Amino acid sequence: MSKNNKPTYINITQAAPINEPERQYYFIEQLKDYVISIEQEYKRKPTACITTFGCQMNARDSEKLVGILVTAGYTMIEDENADFTLYNTCTVRDHANQRVYGRLGKLKHYKKKNPQMKIGLCGCMMQEDTVIEKIKQSYHFVDLIFGTHNIFKFAELLLAMHYSDEMVIDIWQDTDQIVEDLPVERKYPFKSGINIMFGCNNFCTYCIVPYVRGRERSRPADEIINEVKRLVADGVIEIMLLGQNVNSYGLENRSDGTLDSVTFPDLLREVEQIEGLKRIRFMTSHPKDLSDELIKVMQESTKICRHLHLPLQAGSSRILELMNRGYTKEDYIELVAKIRKAMPDISITTDIIVGFPSETEADFDETVDVVRKVKFDNAFTFIYSKRTGTPAAAMTGQVPEEEVKRNFDRLLKEVQIQARAQIGRLCGEVHPVLVEEENSQDSGMLNGRLSNNSIVHFAGDTSLVGQIVDVKLDEAKGFYYIGSKP
Ligand code: SAH
Ligand code: SF4
Ligand code: F3S
Repeated sequence: MSKNNKPTYINITQAAPINEPERQYYFIEQLKDYVISIEQEYKRKPTACITTFGCQMNARDSEKLVGILVTAGYTMIEDENADFTLYNTCTVRDHANQRVYGRLGKLKHYKKKNPQMKIGLCGCMMQEDTVIEKIKQSYHFVDLIFGTHNIFKFAELLLAMHYSDEMVIDIWQDTDQIVEDLPVERKYPFKSGINIMFGCNNFCTYCIVPYVRGRERSRPADEIINEVKRLVADGVIEIMLLGQNVNSYGLENRSDGTLDSVTFPDLLREVEQIEGLKRIRFMTSHPKDLSDELIKVMQESTKICRHLHLPLQAGSSRILELMNRGYTKEDYIELVAKIRKAMPDISITTDIIVGFPSETEADFDETVDVVRKVKFDNAFTFIYSKRTGTPAAAMTGQVPEEEVKRNFDRLLKEVQIQARAQIGRLCGEVHPVLVEEENSQDSGMLNGRLSNNSIVHFAGDTSLVGQIVDVKLDEAKGFYYIGSKP
């Protein structure tokens, strides 16, 4: 169907409901008609591909986007040379942005060969004015741009894109709206992420997330519980509660204007009661808000996994203050000691930034010192990336590149030494493993995960995928185990 041959049904948009999510269901119905018309023209269903950059939050958002496409009738494919290709972007570090620009060049090439192709961009990068300007100027072939706050409008925007000759751009600066209960297509049938809060109020001075994801908004606990129950009824046995700082769940005004007293530990207690649910994870915990109550709930729980991702960011208290993290080196070490005392078998992973403005060798030595003392099971290490508009971008003393690189390599070695020693500690023992998939390189081998989040490879039948089975951990290899059925 040509763009100018607009069907009459699009003119009945006045009849579209005002309230959400009803409004989006109305547009999904219209999209279904569009898909049928394309199917008649192409003699096949239109294909769509979503590529996700960034964190678990984006991964969950993409499941919602896929849910709408699949409900409307699109066939999802892995190949970006599709009828509709969407990038769900991340902007936490400049590298993430550069990857998107680089890949857009490839999409331009596909579109030249197939002018009917539609290209969309969404996610955190789109919340930055400079990005939108750049795309408008240099990437004319993009058809649709939307941001993080209006992702629930995807069906409406997609339809607008199909019937517009211009680039459709819809970016909101912020929102207090949370629209859920739209279709979701999970990547794994047996496990799921679930948003418990959106946005971030912490304003760590290096971080762009509060600017692109807006203020903190917690979902009411009963909505979360109902969603988990629905997921469990649909076959989910493991959930991951998602938020930029789950420990501050419920501590701000709710999206619906009420303020009730359900805190994160309270929420965990409620989720624990849900029958049929086997494992509970959460991400991310901010050290400054991790309460004794949370440690107690974890300790008493039989479902909360023995893993905490607890970003350190830096070991020097001076740098931590400049970062606005709200804890010192000593606070962090003490906190870990308290957690390990309560749960000796817990695995602790972290994030560390190297080269924050004014970081000296002595500051960096403090980071290495924490890594040695805490013995992380794994650490994600990042080179500091200057993000326009954040306080750190205006700080003096940006660290020279070679020095950052040298320290980064030193840190990586130290992390690997500690992680190898840590992962070996369960060798010879039998532990429950949630089987996630067949190993892509070695059929006959399965990939699974321990409660502490370590990966286990072992020989077994694919019928075990989605089940929790006991596996003997025979050998530790770097960051994973080789196991066998006991
Ligand atoms: N909300 C989470 C982190 C989200 S971003 C938390 O507070 O822990 C994920 C990680 O990216 C951060 O933990 C941090 O280590 C890293 N990061 C964020 N901004 C960065 C920047 N400007 N440069 C380098 N790494 C950054
Ligand atoms: Fe960024 Fe800090 Fe918020 Fe995490 S807590 S998202 S690092 S501002
Ligand atoms: Fe990236 Fe946005 Fe997540 S900036 S890390 S995708 S919240």
